[in-house]
Amino acid sequence: MNFLSFKDTVIFPKTAGINVAGHLSIGGCDLVDLADEFGTPLYIYDETTLIDKCREFLSEFQSRYPKVKVAYASKAFMTRGLAALLKRQGLGLDVVSGGEMSAAKSVDFPMEKVYFHGNNKGRDELLQAIEWGLGSIVVDNLHELRLLDELCQEKGVTQNILLRVSPGIDPHTHAYTTTGVIDSKFGLTIATGQAEDGVARAVKAKNLRLLGLHFHLGSPIFELEPYPAGIKVAVKFAAEMIERYGLKLEELNVGGGFAIQYVRQSPPPAVSEYAEAITTSLKNECERAGIEPPTLVVEPGRSLVGRAGVALYRVGFSKDIPDVRKYVSVDGGMADNIRPAIYGSLYEAVIANRPLAEGSEVVTIAGKYCESGDILIRDLELPPLNSGDLLALPASGAYNLAMSSNYNLSTRPAVVMVKDGAARLLRRRESYQDLIALDYL
Ligand SMILES: Cc1ncc(COP(=O)(O)O)c(C=O)c1O
Repeated sequence: MNFLSFKDTVIFPKTAGINVAGHLSIGGCDLVDLADEFGTPLYIYDETTLIDKCREFLSEFQSRYPKVKVAYASKAFMTRGLAALLKRQGLGLDVVSGGEMSAAKSVDFPMEKVYFHGNNKGRDELLQAIEWGLGSIVVDNLHELRLLDELCQEKGVTQNILLRVSPGIDPHTHAYTTTGVIDSKFGLTIATGQAEDGVARAVKAKNLRLLGLHFHLGSPIFELEPYPAGIKVAVKFAAEMIERYGLKLEELNVGGGFAIQYVRQSPPPAVSEYAEAITTSLKNECERAGIEPPTLVVEPGRSLVGRAGVALYRVGFSKDIPDVRKYVSVDGGMADNIRPAIYGSLYEAVIANRPLAEGSEVVTIAGKYCESGDILIRDLELPPLNSGDLLALPASGAYNLAMSSNYNLSTRPAVVMVKDGAARLLRRRESYQDLIALDYL
């Protein structure tokens, strides 16, 4: 397998190609040059793919439904440069911590476009959200509802909220990333009556203004059906709450979870197909329930940044165990991408300095960290690899660096944004000085 054989797939960024030097290039930048200039491991984001994805989400949803907001789920990947780009594209943000909120604030992101999520938001984080005028706090449980109302009373303000409900729908993804089922730590469960209790209290809360409901089913969701199923349950519940408690359903936030293509054999639905399934079912369910269609909010994370990002590693040593396995080690691994270790996630790879290389052997790409489980790709067919080769792993833009660590006191990789042949640093590589800067003797 070589790069040309999946040139037409949606695994690599849109601008990926092979240049006159015969190297892989992205955004007009030669990956061999990027490795020389910035070192490896390196994360490369293609600005064109990012901007096109923002536009695709806005246009596919807005062309099908009159009132739509797209809020990027910053847990997938967050840097100040990315937040600034999203701000220019007119998107909102979903944040889950004081840290993500602060990064947004540092680039003057319009706070009224920010949703604050989390199943155990701290008192300090809630106060920060209130003081900074966040658009909506997505209340996850009854404890938070009480605490937030008290804090708003102390501050003398009224805060917009959504209630996160758990509709009891299984999106058929990894158990660790399934969130909308009954046995989940997230949200107020509809089936147990907890969500109804939440609505009854929220509409009475003096300093809270309940704008509507939120659910998030899980991620990545490769099927369309879970979305209409979730919407059906949520709209039926909302209609009952309108009748019983006078709920005003101004917004329905259906979360994120839209899948991207990681490997050739698993293509996800297109954004247009998710948009069609979601908007059609929302219109139909509202009509069936006899309620006014609310503003629709979607929170794509992975699907907005995943394809734009490529991880670039340098190949080191190989270990061939005859009749068992050949391990090829690279200079990164689970500290910058823990997804294969915790979810069994699959990836493709291409030799960036000779993507058209001939021949093939089956190898296992190992990371450099002190865990046997630090394997990036198992049993991948590639042309024979040499020490010094550069290996590019596509679809690495989401939940890689966002979940990275300093395991083995390693330094996090640099991140560059590429466009029109130019690369600029979004984040510099961490230094050993950074690693010890917070320690006391
Ligand atoms: C509430 C909420 N919204 C949106 C997302 C984004 O999901 P994805 O990155 O799969 O689009 C998540 C992911 O965990 C989430 O918890």
